[in-house]
Amino acid sequence: MLSGRGSNFLALQRDSLRPDAPYRLELVFSDQEEAPGLAHARRLGLPTHTANPRQFPGKAAYERSLIALFREQRIDLVCLAGYMRIVGAELLAAFPQRLLNIHPALLPSFPGLHAQRQALEYGVRISGCTVHLVDAGTDSGPIVAQAAVPVLDGDTEETLSIRILEQEHLLYPQALRRICRGDWRVEDRRVLPDRAT
Ligand code: GRF
Repeated sequence: MLSGRGSNFLALQRDSLRPDAPYRLELVFSDQEEAPGLAHARRLGLPTHTANPRQFPGKAAYERSLIALFREQRIDLVCLAGYMRIVGAELLAAFPQRLLNIHPALLPSFPGLHAQRQALEYGVRISGCTVHLVDAGTDSGPIVAQAAVPVLDGDTEETLSIRILEQEHLLYPQALRRICRGDWRVEDRRVLPDRAT
């Protein structure tokens, strides 16, 4: 699910084509008809779908339509990749521990919008990116994987964002592979190896 540029989607798509990838991308959904990421998906010949939440009576109805679509397409797992909306209760309940998100900061620092700007303004020396399971909060679910990126003295929001994005493109496929392998469990918020499976 994406709302914009779609570079993380493209990183997942590239990884999904490798012979050892344990997942395939079945559908690209956007709430923004004009999202560049959607154009990339069409160009690659992937099935796409758009829906404008404003054309539904409320968030629940919008998400119910998505759930119906995802079930019809036999979607097992949903990756948010620059999807600029808070996931509601309906979608969360339909995909328990099956919704992933990537965030451009080392959570729990700097959740929400403009994470790279927040990191710069705070003055941290190390930022990075986080892949996490989605829960009802904003960027607050159990952490699957993180990568650190040093903040350099001359960094601007743009230069820091570029370096973090490079790490996002490596981290998201890696984290998704782990989730797909299924050898994990969540215990007290921690995503731990599950040797029983
Ligand atoms: C990324 O920085 C991601 O961490 C955040 O939104 C941005 C999406 O970029 N959630 P892209 O659309 O994947 O290029």
